[in-house]
Amino acid sequence: MKTHSIAVLPGDGIGPEVIAEAERALEAAGDRFGIDFTLRRFPVGAAGVAAAGDPFPEETRAAVARADAVLLGAVGDPALDQAPRHLRPESGLLALRAQLGVYANLRPVAVFPALVDRSPLKADRLEGVDVLIVRELTGGLYYGEPRGRDAGGAAAVNTLRYTAAEIKRVARVAFEAAQRRRGHVTSVDKANVLEVSQLWRETVARVGRDYPDVRLDHLYVDTAAMRLVADPRAFDVLLTENMFGDILSDEAAVLVGSLGLLPSASLGEGAGLFEPIHGSAPDIAGRDVANPIGAIATVALLLRHGLGLAEPAGAVERAISLALEQGARTRDIAESGAPALGTREMGERIAGLIAQERQSRASVAP
Ligand code: IPM
Ligand code: MN
Repeated sequence: MKTHSIAVLPGDGIGPEVIAEAERALEAAGDRFGIDFTLRRFPVGAAGVAAAGDPFPEETRAAVARADAVLLGAVGDPALDQAPRHLRPESGLLALRAQLGVYANLRPVAVFPALVDRSPLKADRLEGVDVLIVRELTGGLYYGEPRGRDAGGAAAVNTLRYTAAEIKRVARVAFEAAQRRRGHVTSVDKANVLEVSQLWRETVARVGRDYPDVRLDHLYVDTAAMRLVADPRAFDVLLTENMFGDILSDEAAVLVGSLGLLPSASLGEGAGLFEPIHGSAPDIAGRDVANPIGAIATVALLLRHGLGLAEPAGAVERAISLALEQGARTRDIAESGAPALGTREMGERIAGLIAQERQSRASVAP
């Protein structure tokens, strides 16, 4: 039997706890659909610094280069906040994204009907919200040179630079996604002020001509930030650059009720990188209270976009929805004072539902 080889990078903080539940879900899907996964773990982030003095150690680099897909937990550790840049956990993540060349970061934000009352926004604005954020991931301010502090330290510089080629390839991902969805792309920029955004807007418009079936409009990022919470149903695919996408995706998490619910897929030419959008949450690490749903939903994206396995991906997503409909809640999405499941219990509940679908499928088979 062919095996899919997955490099698993649990990382820091709550990363290892939520990744253990993601692995449980992957194994449940593998059992049910007769798919073999080989999961191997490697350190990244502060865990990489602890193991090998490098947030993206050589051993991890080599493993990632060989893998069919990469599953990541989270990176970040306040103990390294003052460390030089090459030793910061986040530098490891940026190097990982650059090595894989994963320029398109897909962040689907769909409201679970069972959780509409968990968002601080009014329920009538949230029903039916289903936004796909397409964030450019390997360019812009995160990677631009020159960068750094001036000699005296009293000034600093980062560089926002995009080429038309970088904009084009991520725009194509957004338009193609829109064709499979509701046929609408909203491109977000700051073209009233930034030359880079003017290039962004022109290039996206030009790419859009190849997709006459997709409606394209443009919003300035400040307006987009407001509209995302005021009228979230106005969005289908939201296409934007690296830094704006980072900010808008955390904002979008408010729509679904918790950052702990959201997955992401980062795609390029080769193997994809799959990670929940939440961070390492050091304040709750090691206490079995983190929500594993973002990591488990990430497994669904890994199956679908990383390995082309749509059917098991759907089974994982249905199991998550079903667990929520049945009332399963971790602390972040429970009503205040109500009892909540731990990370592990939630993971077991969902894995059980993934496995169980087999029986219901078998019982309807002719
Ligand atoms: C994210 C995170 C990362 C980012 C950090 C940890 C570097 O916030 O994936 O959204 O800014 O891209
Ligand atoms: Mn972020």
